Amino acid sequence: MLYGELVEGDLLDGKRLKEVMESFCPAAVMHFAAHIVVPESVAQPLKYYINNVQGTLNLLAAMKRSGVKKMIFSSSAAVYGVPELVPVPEAAPMQPINPYGQTKAVVEQVLQDLSAAKEMDYVSLRYFNVAGADRDGRIGEGKEDATHLITLATRAAAGKRPFLSVFGTDYPTPDGTCIRDYIHVEDLAEAHILALEYLLQGGSSAVFNCGYGRGYSVLEVVRTAKEVTGVDFPVKYEGRRPGDPPALIADARKIRRELKWEPRYDDLKTIISSAWEWEKKRRTF
Ligand SMILES: NC(=O)c1ccc[n+]([C@@H]2O[C@H](COP(=O)([O-])OP(=O)(O)OC[C@H]3O[C@@H](n4cnc5c(N)ncnc54)[C@H](O)[C@@H]3O)[C@@H](O)[C@H]2O)c1
Repeated sequence: MLYGELVEGDLLDGKRLKEVMESFCPAAVMHFAAHIVVPESVAQPLKYYINNVQGTLNLLAAMKRSGVKKMIFSSSAAVYGVPELVPVPEAAPMQPINPYGQTKAVVEQVLQDLSAAKEMDYVSLRYFNVAGADRDGRIGEGKEDATHLITLATRAAAGKRPFLSVFGTDYPTPDGTCIRDYIHVEDLAEAHILALEYLLQGGSSAVFNCGYGRGYSVLEVVRTAKEVTGVDFPVKYEGRRPGDPPALIADARKIRRELKWEPRYDDLKTIISSAWEWEKKRRTF
């Protein structure tokens, strides 16, 4: 597979963004960059608003100057806060309960306003819990300070962490732990390609949930991770983390219907196996 040129830079560096946008003049932008750790956003909200909101405004300004009018935005289920309806549809109100989710909701509002003013068309993909790794073993989670459950479970199984923390066992869910909708990263990548094709073919601005419509509790993930890895790694039960809603499950019918998205890895064991294969061969520095 051929990749394009990699240019590194910071969205807070408006001058550099302008230069890059002018030199490539892309047909569309896929905007993934953000700070993403919910408890950190609760502790340091300004850091999140500056990076995620100001950074995106800089990007949109650079796009406007270069006449780039299409964006695919990495939004989040965090925009829903504690939804009244689960599985949650896209039409549910945005009521985030933490600054991270708030930054995503603000950006979605900006995109909606720009679209209404006919300045651009966008697709906002509201990811639920992204997990797993590329099955060819080329790409996976490499950050040492990763915070996602499946990554941390495979690292505990690999002996790279002494235990796995479970945050909160007193949520109003059947086993007391949080329920999330885990989506394999390759299915999510496919959703981006479909969203790009949709926009390039003249599709109008739209918001889509990206999940499978099926939730697993933290304890179900832990049990499955132990089964897949064959390692009975230690688990430590801790208090709730700030900003965690009890249950987030996508109503994902819209993306299947309108973008003809057909997920291929909709299975918790498959997701965890791919993360485990990646973790076993990942080099640590
Ligand atoms: N992982 C998930 O479960 C999940 C769920 C919902 C939404 N998302 C969204 O998906 C996107 C990607 O998330 P991820 O899980 O790959 O996180 P990640 O932390 O692995 O990747 C985010 C990347 O953005 C870069 N970045 C942050 N601020 C930047 C800036 N100012 N300029 C340039 N680069 C910057 C970081 O260096 C990092 O490489 C994010 O927008 C996140 O909010 C992720």
